[in-house]
Amino acid sequence: MLILDVLSPLLLLSILLPGYGCRAADIPEDTTSEFSVRLYHRLQAAGGQDNIIFSPLSVAVALGMVELGARGASLEEIRQAVGFSHLLPGVEFSLLQNLTTALTDDDTHYVIRFANSLFLQEGVTFNPEFLHLMKKYFRADVETVDFSESSAVADQINNWVENHTESKIRALLSAEDFSSVTRLTLVNAVYFRGSWKNQFRPENTRTFSFSKDDGSEVQTLMMYQQGDFYYGEFSDGSQEAGGVYQVLEMPYEGEDMSMMIVLPRQEVPLASLEPIIKAPLLEEWANNVKRQKVEVYLPRFKVEQKIDLRNTLQDLGIKNIFTNDADLSAMTDGKDLYIGKAVQKAYLEVTEEGAEGAVGSGMIALTRTLVLYPQVMADHPFFFVIRNRRTGSILFMGRVMTPEVIEPSDHDFDSM
Ligand SMILES: *[C@@H]1O[C@H](CO)[C@@H](O)[C@H](O)[C@H]1NC(C)=O
Ligand SMILES: *[C@@H]1O[C@H](CO)[C@@H](O)[C@H](O)[C@H]1NC(C)=O
Repeated sequence: MLILDVLSPLLLLSILLPGYGCRAADIPEDTTSEFSVRLYHRLQAAGGQDNIIFSPLSVAVALGMVELGARGASLEEIRQAVGFSHLLPGVEFSLLQNLTTALTDDDTHYVIRFANSLFLQEGVTFNPEFLHLMKKYFRADVETVDFSESSAVADQINNWVENHTESKIRALLSAEDFSSVTRLTLVNAVYFRGSWKNQFRPENTRTFSFSKDDGSEVQTLMMYQQGDFYYGEFSDGSQEAGGVYQVLEMPYEGEDMSMMIVLPRQEVPLASLEPIIKAPLLEEWANNVKRQKVEVYLPRFKVEQKIDLRNTLQDLGIKNIFTNDADLSAMTDGKDLYIGKAVQKAYLEVTEEGAEGAVGSGMIALTRTLVLYPQVMADHPFFFVIRNRRTGSILFMGRVMTPEVIEPSDHDFDSM
């Protein structure tokens, strides 16, 4: 069984927002993919040769929570940047509620948990209507704390995050993140765990070279299978041979969620493909991949990233809430609230169950010379999204520049 473990506590600190909620609903369509892609490009611009992992949906929800307490320019900037401005005012809250509900439907095939908590400064009075809407749309836990006891608060919040991420994310915050002027802290954690519909057999995993974009090579554990997936070949618009790239969509059990992998040709660096990634293109990929038999070589990987959303969001036009001019007057009557800190940490692990016990049995097709089916050989950097196939919601987006690296002596597998 391939286990995918993902988590992403999103923290908006120092003054701010609350959590999630939901129930019922039609299947809404996510309108935030443009925002997701812009976020990706920001992270890419800042990221050098690093892996990337973040949760666009989680960021959108966190911003929805801030928006609930915002007025004026603070509110408008968020609506504009996230992609809500075509909706009637306030409809976005219902949309976010429905999107998260669609993900957490009674589906026993995978686990997604959204957990939100609002930590308030003791003695500060928050608008009851704001707290009510927070509960209604985002189902936020609300607790009061004394932020001047900064290390006790950090412990409390870190425990909460750890509790909601199966201990994958620890020590997210430290005492220095809080002070006597902190009024409100929002913690938003997403946990996802799914297994592939078509699982990789651990005995087919082999040591393999992975060529990084800088030309160096690392050894990784490459999973292998031949199975029915959604697959397509696309062109970046150029006439060159290198302009063709592959898209592979691998559903998780239940088929509602999938991971889409976008792989340039071996000789083409991922960096040359990244600029063409746009929201409509994500849709084009999803609509044009066809079910067929594919040979898949996918490295095990683990990606983790902590993102300072304050800087990133400012680059995307959400500035006001981080300044003294912030208008969060729907939260409290006071005029002194603004967001001092906003952090997201995400973690994703892709492996096949039982991999550590696997000893090569020599069954696999690595040595075959005749390729009968399209072959997706992810032995060089690739881009990926984990999305809901019904709503288009992007739970995670990222890239793998370096997979799980192993030392040659580190493993039980026969070298190829
Ligand atoms: C959310 O779901 C409710 C209940 O099905 C529905 O009435 C509402 O219109 C939906 N909102 C959006 C924005 O899709
Ligand atoms: C963590 O979860 C356990 C079990 O649900 C609960 O008893 C404990 O109070 C939780 N701790 C925190 C810090 O939320």
